[in-house]
Formats: sequence, structure tokens, C-alpha cells
Amino acid sequence: MKFTIKNEKPANIRSGCVILGIFEHRKLSAAAAQFDKTTRGLLKKLLHDGEMDGKCGQTLLLPYPAGAQCERVLLVGCGKAGEFDGRNYGKAVAGATMAANRSGATDAVSYLAELDVSDRDSYWKVRTLVETTRSSSYTPDELKSKKDRHGYPLRRVGINMAAAAGALAREALVDGESIAGGVELARTLGNLPGNICTPSYLASQARKLGKTCSYLKVSVMDEAGMKKLGMGALLSVSRGSREPAKLITMEYKGGKAGEKPVVLVGKGVTFDAGGISIKPGAAMDEMKFDMCGAASVLGTLKACVDMELPVNVTGVIPTTENLPDGNASKPGDIVTSMSGQTIEILNTDAEGRMILCDALTYSAKFKPEVVIDIATLTGACVIALGSHAAGLLSNDDDLADELLAAGESAGDRAWHMPLWDEYQPQLKSNFADMANIGGREAGTITAACFLSRFTEKYRWAHLDIAGVAWKGGNEKGATGRPVALLTQFLLDRCTD
Ligand code: BES
Ligand code: MN
Ligand code: ZN
Repeated sequence: MKFTIKNEKPANIRSGCVILGIFEHRKLSAAAAQFDKTTRGLLKKLLHDGEMDGKCGQTLLLPYPAGAQCERVLLVGCGKAGEFDGRNYGKAVAGATMAANRSGATDAVSYLAELDVSDRDSYWKVRTLVETTRSSSYTPDELKSKKDRHGYPLRRVGINMAAAAGALAREALVDGESIAGGVELARTLGNLPGNICTPSYLASQARKLGKTCSYLKVSVMDEAGMKKLGMGALLSVSRGSREPAKLITMEYKGGKAGEKPVVLVGKGVTFDAGGISIKPGAAMDEMKFDMCGAASVLGTLKACVDMELPVNVTGVIPTTENLPDGNASKPGDIVTSMSGQTIEILNTDAEGRMILCDALTYSAKFKPEVVIDIATLTGACVIALGSHAAGLLSNDDDLADELLAAGESAGDRAWHMPLWDEYQPQLKSNFADMANIGGREAGTITAACFLSRFTEKYRWAHLDIAGVAWKGGNEKGATGRPVALLTQFLLDRCTD
């Protein structure tokens, strides 16, 4: 899909589809009013006839509007004019995109980005239009022999903006396309089944990304290397699998030489059956999404490469399967992590923290500015926050605030949860330094407490994305979250 910035009157534009905003109740936006004038009151008449009211996301398509140069005009509801915020803007853009994709038009010009959105500037509006248009056009049909895609999907999208916004709008366009590409990569990897997306496959994808950029260096450690470093926790998970575990490192050096990197650690369990503590069968297929943390690290690094972001970012991905087997770890087994701390595995289904703890210890070697891990870690987080916000826990309140703000501005929100010492005793083991589970209460927090014992040497935050990384049900599929949050966090570091 190709995006361009335009500055033309809506009725003069030769396009497959002109997209105009309508507010509740039947209130024309400036561009719609202009269009209405040239078409001798066509829009007002239709609205008056009750064809559309302007509810947010609602659409109405008119072919060959007399008096205009376009083949179609698509009216999009934007909700109440006084309540047009970032969220409603996103809904309107998504609604317009889906209707335009169904319309048969292969090109469109949108007048939505010139609407006033409360607390958002032109840069944000253009970038969000690009990201939202791309993500609402995405269909996970790579593995279908008969594609779901629309017969004539949108190929070219013009974004109308006042000339004054020119340079900023063009920058927003590049950023938006880069972030959309990162989100798409995360979604595509997330949607791939476990028999294709194995640890070795993720490693090959990382290497492939490394080949696209001279300052992205990728290396992959095998199990022998992990053994040498004493990664007994990571290896305790992979021993039940016939696919070898990998530890992927991706060093992106877009920033100054010697500048400390932001380290992103992504959980890459390519299938989580639970191990010997096997999961129940219902919806177990969704445990192919247990590598979405890893996918978000790959997606974020791709966005960095495409934006040529001037920061140093290191991606670390521990990746393995978690399966039952004669050689698998058993409840009660005790292993020694790379940090030297011993862990009693009371539940083999709490495998994410086992692979992350060694990856977090390993991450200290990069002398990080901060470390952020991203993981589909606990079902408890889905219960606590549902699918709207990722859980955020941190040993540093400033870092937590920066991440919350990034999520807010990118429309990819997180919610801060406590990491108080009072929760730590839940991890007590009678036989080892700690247990790998903390009981029924506060499952998301005790999982983070476990990780906090491996992150004392640096500023660290943990994003539990179990509720946001994918959708179940009818529209099952990976969302690409939190690539937008992470990219925004990195962008914010470049501009201050
Ligand atoms: N990958 C799961 C977490 C998960 C479960 C995410 C369901 C999304 C939906 C993780 O490895 C896991 O199994 N966690 C256990 C931890 C428990 C054994 C302490 C869980 O949440 O049940
Ligand atoms: Mn598990
Ligand atoms: Zn898991």
C-alpha cells in the first residue's frame, strides 16, 4: 500500500474514493461541506433523508457523485464533534478503511487527517492514519490456498493535509509506514503455527532482518552455548522438546558509539502445551501465540531499521517449545539458573519466567540503559486487565511512567501494577532459593517478583502481554501489540 500527502479540494480530486468525515447529528466536516457545495447539496440531502447520522465508525458509500471528479465518495461517521479524540479518530479511520477495501476502489484520498482531534497534532494524525489503514487491511491468509483478501484492495492512499503541515506530515508518513511494517511482522510471525514457527524459524527470521541493515548484528546461541553459560532454567524448559532452543541476540546500533542500549527481551515459546503440568485441551491451539513477545521485539527492531532511528537497541530472544516428554522437567525438579540461584519447578507450565530469567541475567552483559521484557506470561493478567491494557511492572517508577506515556500516545496502552516486597514471600520454596510459582493470588505480580530477582543490577520493566498480544474467538489472530508502544518509547528517547 502506497501513501502520499495531498493538498487538493475534495470535489476536484480524480480518485476511486474520496473519504469525508461526518459528525453526529448529520454535521458536515469542512471538507464534506466543500464537497457538498460542488455537488449541489448531495450530501446534505442524503443525510437529511436519514441515510446516516454520523455515529463513530459508521460508513455510507455513494457511487459516481454528480458534480465531482471521483468514482465514489465514502462518508465516515466521526461521532460527536466535541468528543473527537484519538480513539474516535482511530475508529473512523478503521471503519473507512474496511469500507473502502470492500468498495472496489484501488485508490482513495482521505480527508480525515485534517479534522481537529483533541490533544493530537498533524504528525500524530498522519502517522495514525497510515498505521490504522495498514492494520485494518491486514488479513492472515498466507497459508490459505484461496485468499480472503478483497477482490480489489486499496493500493494507493492519499492523505489530504493543509500545505503548512507538509514537512511534518511527510515525516509522519515514513514513521507510520515503518511502525505499520513492524506491527505486520509481529502479527505474521504470531499467527504462524507452531509446526512452522519453531525456535529455529525465529532465528532464521532474525538473521534475515539482520541482512537488511549494516548496523544490525544478529547472532544465535545454541544449547551447547547455553550450557556453557549455566543457563539451567532456560534448558529445563527445552529438554522436553525435540526442537532445539535458541538464544537470539540482535544488536541495532543506530545511536552514538558507546551509548548504552535499550535491551528488549521477548518471550519466544513457540508452543506452550504446559509440559508435564499439561494444559487442558480447550483453545490450546492459541498457545502458538506464546512467542508474541519475541515477535514484538523483531517487529520493533524492524521499525527501528526502517526509520533509521538514532538509538542503540538490543533484542534478546530466548526461544523454545514447552512440551511433555519422557525427558521433560518434572514438578519438584530443582535447577540452577545462570545467576547461580536455584529454582524449584513446582509447575512446568510456568515456563516463561524460566526462560526469561536466564535471558535477563545474560542481558547485563550489554551494560544496558534499561531492560524491558515483553511476555505472554500469565493467564492472571488476562483476568485482571482483559484485552485492553498490558500489565506493567517495574523496579523503576520513572521508567514505568515513560512506558505508560508511550503507550498512551501510541494508542497501545499499559497499566501499572505494584511490585511490592510484600508479595515476594509467595515464592518461598522449602528446598531451593525460590519456587517458580507463587500460588493463586496475584499471579501476574508474583511472576514479575520472580523476574525481579534477576534484574537487580539495572533499571527494568516487564510488560505482561497475555491479554493484548492476540485475539481469540471469531477474529482470532495476533495484534502486533506492543510494537507501537515500544517504538514510541524509543522515538521519545530520540527527541528529548
Ligand atoms: N503462556 C502462559 C500464559 C497464558 C495463559 C497467556 C493463557 C495467555 C492465556 C504461561 O506460560 C502459563 O502457562 N502461565 C501459567 C502460570 C501458572 C502455572 C503459575 C498460568 O497463567 O496459568
Ligand atoms: Mn505456560
Ligand atoms: Zn507460556
